Amino acid sequence: MLRGLVTEHGQARRHEARLLRAGNPALWTLLTAGRLLGPLVRLPRLGWVVTDPVLARRILNDPAFSMVGEGGVGDLWGQLFGPDFASFFAGARHAELRSLARDLFTEDSARLLVDRVQGPHHARLRARLAAGEEVDLAAVVRTTSAYTVADLLGVAVSDDDAALALFASAERLAALALGTQASTALAPEVIAKAGALVESITGGVGQAYRTGGPDTILGRCRDLDLGLDLAKGLTTLLVIAGTETGASSLTRTVALLHDTGQQHRLLADPALTANAVREGLRVTTPAPVIGRHIARDTEIAGRRLRRDGRVMMLTYVADNKAGPFDITRAYVPETRQLWFGAGRHLCLGAAVARVQLTRLLEALTTDGRPWRVVSRAPARQVLVPTYESLRIRTA
Ligand code: HEM
Repeated sequence: MLRGLVTEHGQARRHEARLLRAGNPALWTLLTAGRLLGPLVRLPRLGWVVTDPVLARRILNDPAFSMVGEGGVGDLWGQLFGPDFASFFAGARHAELRSLARDLFTEDSARLLVDRVQGPHHARLRARLAAGEEVDLAAVVRTTSAYTVADLLGVAVSDDDAALALFASAERLAALALGTQASTALAPEVIAKAGALVESITGGVGQAYRTGGPDTILGRCRDLDLGLDLAKGLTTLLVIAGTETGASSLTRTVALLHDTGQQHRLLADPALTANAVREGLRVTTPAPVIGRHIARDTEIAGRRLRRDGRVMMLTYVADNKAGPFDITRAYVPETRQLWFGAGRHLCLGAAVARVQLTRLLEALTTDGRPWRVVSRAPARQVLVPTYESLRIRTA
């Protein structure tokens, strides 16, 4: 029994390691080394690295660390959309922007959104599996994630091919940030490539900005008179933030449940779904690293961190310290929900991410039949490690 458990966890770990390595070999090396590092260390070229969940959350809550400036993701966005856009990532403008859309991201709003947009896709998925069909779950969740974010924005997506194209452009744009571990300064040719991808992501923004209703993000951008350029920047940000991470958590959690054999526990006791969702998010941590710029000298855990340096929180390492995927594991207070970040920039789409994972697991378990992974392939050269394909079939 114990031997079986060890083997199943080993298999799940190997599949996860393969995903991380295929997506970004440099990141995989960093995360593997990170498991052996202390809570806060300084590495040549990379700057400060944090592996402890409590310290990571402290830093994310500390205004001495900023998203804007070398090392923070706001620095990348500023290079694509200009300094005015970068100012959205800090201070009063950031708070104003979050409050613009807060009510669209509550638990209730997330349930309504996911049920309306993804419900028909989940019904179709159940029917296909019940008919004995083999389904590529990775393609299904790429489609549903893109439709969901487009719906929030108020952008029309004509069909599944258009949804997949939106997802692919976002994935390619995010992949341009590969290799920014040592510096967030982008080369001019990277900025040019990014411009073309932004155009394809924001093709429908003009129309949505003019006509979007009050319950769409672009409609609200118009009411605030943000202007089309900033609205395009926000659209790109939301499409990047809301598609890949969600899709990654969905397929990887389904694979983890299969590889560890814990789908059988879940099928026997559906009340474990909330735990399975939390464990899936914890173990996969789809945003495996969070970076910050050090805006002023500060002391953390007895170490002096100098202004203008950078800090990388290895959230994947920090979250996985609690142990392997286990759907009977109780809430881990040290980790809380670090996979969604913490502090001012805590993921705005956290409820959407939780609800869509819940609904997918419900769709897979309502028939009471276990699923089998028939074949799988990792996505290569992507910012968020994920499955390119995950073909499943029910028994
Ligand atoms: C499992 C899925 C998801 C994960 C793991 C995730 C993770 C994160 C993390 C770690 C951050 C903080 C980044 C930082 O502090 O530098 C973040 C921010 C954000 N996320 Fe998510 N996210 C997910 C899904 C979504 C979805 C579905 C949406 C929208 C529909 C979304 C929208 C956002 C936005 C707008 C921010 C920026 C918040 C701010 O800067 O104030 N996310 N997410």
